[in-house]
Amino acid sequence: MSMPLAWQKRGDAKPDLSHMTKPQAQSIVLGIESSCDEMAAAIIRGNRDVVASVVHGQDDVHRPYGGVVPELASRDHVRAISQVVDLTFERAGLSLKDLTGIAVTAGPGLVGSLLVGLSFGKALAYRLGVPVVGVHHLLGHLTAAELSAPDLVRPYIGLVVSGGHTAFYRVEETGAPALLGETRDDAAGEAFDKVAKLLGLGFPGGPAVSAAAREGDSKAVAFPRPMLKNPGLALSYSGLKTAVSIEVEKRGGKDALSEQEVADIAASFEAAATDVLVVKARRAINAEGLSSLAVVGGVAANRRLREEMERAGKKHDFDVTFPPIALCTDNAAMIAAAGARMLAEGCADALDLNAFSRVPLGQTPWRAPADASV
Ligand code: KG4
Ligand code: ZN
Repeated sequence: MSMPLAWQKRGDAKPDLSHMTKPQAQSIVLGIESSCDEMAAAIIRGNRDVVASVVHGQDDVHRPYGGVVPELASRDHVRAISQVVDLTFERAGLSLKDLTGIAVTAGPGLVGSLLVGLSFGKALAYRLGVPVVGVHHLLGHLTAAELSAPDLVRPYIGLVVSGGHTAFYRVEETGAPALLGETRDDAAGEAFDKVAKLLGLGFPGGPAVSAAAREGDSKAVAFPRPMLKNPGLALSYSGLKTAVSIEVEKRGGKDALSEQEVADIAASFEAAATDVLVVKARRAINAEGLSSLAVVGGVAANRRLREEMERAGKKHDFDVTFPPIALCTDNAAMIAAAGARMLAEGCADALDLNAFSRVPLGQTPWRAPADASV
């Protein structure tokens, strides 16, 4: 059963739009994120003050299948979105008429999932007469770092490590990202998820592998460090996943593994997967002559990656920023923050704003050409 939306509760047949005629002292932007299997909403005041952030996950929906089922994800989003937005307003102590703009993830992601948030955001913007802006999901992830570390100064190296992406960017002073190198096959998060399956650790995979790894010996199995010997910043995770699969088979399959063996393989995989990121991050810092690194995306929640990257930063004298865990995995605070900045710069989208499954960071195919660079 859906909870009534905020305006229904207040009994307003029509929202009061009088505030739209006078300039706002401070912007209040609603962010909506629904690119994969999290339905999230957040409200930000100005550029930094996140007044409420709500994330509704779907682990129970996808667990029986061992991975995200797109059709089920979008159906669950449809069920959840009103309640998530309603709860966000409730926690913020604000109502719809307080909004000055709406920011919503337009891509990349699962189109069926994206369309739920996008349609809701556009409809709300139309009803309230406020501007709507489409946000690139990875720009959102990078903004999470800037949001949580005001002393993170551009230009810096942005490492995005998520379930769909693993890439190094140079984030210019203007905020424009330049791709420096990325995975040639699987994303790091995808590798965590697949290894979780191989080890029978269930779904979602990243946190499960990470938890098992805590009890294991990271030197138990000498997994390869892919692409380490190759110059440049390209990465690869499919070979590492295959190496784990071969190791499991060698020991008689996952059902034959003891708890300790599972922990050892998990820890050894985690070490290999994160070591390459640490080495290549240092390489990126040196190659670009920069001194700041921000690591964002779901895999940035990984404890070993956080510890090892921070250790490398201290040793080799570069600053390392990780957003707090809640801002690493998908959330709407990062979308609201990115959108609030864009709206403040006068960047907004038309109501025919559409969803895109694959979009390189830095591109916004949903925007009219004159503004398409933001
Ligand atoms: O950024 P995110 O929430 O969604 C995407 O944009 O893809 O990232 C999700 C990915 C998943 O693959 C998940 O397994 C991984 O992040 N992840 C982790 C951890 N928490 C989430 N991987 C390793 N260690 C973790 N603690
Ligand atoms: Zn993400």
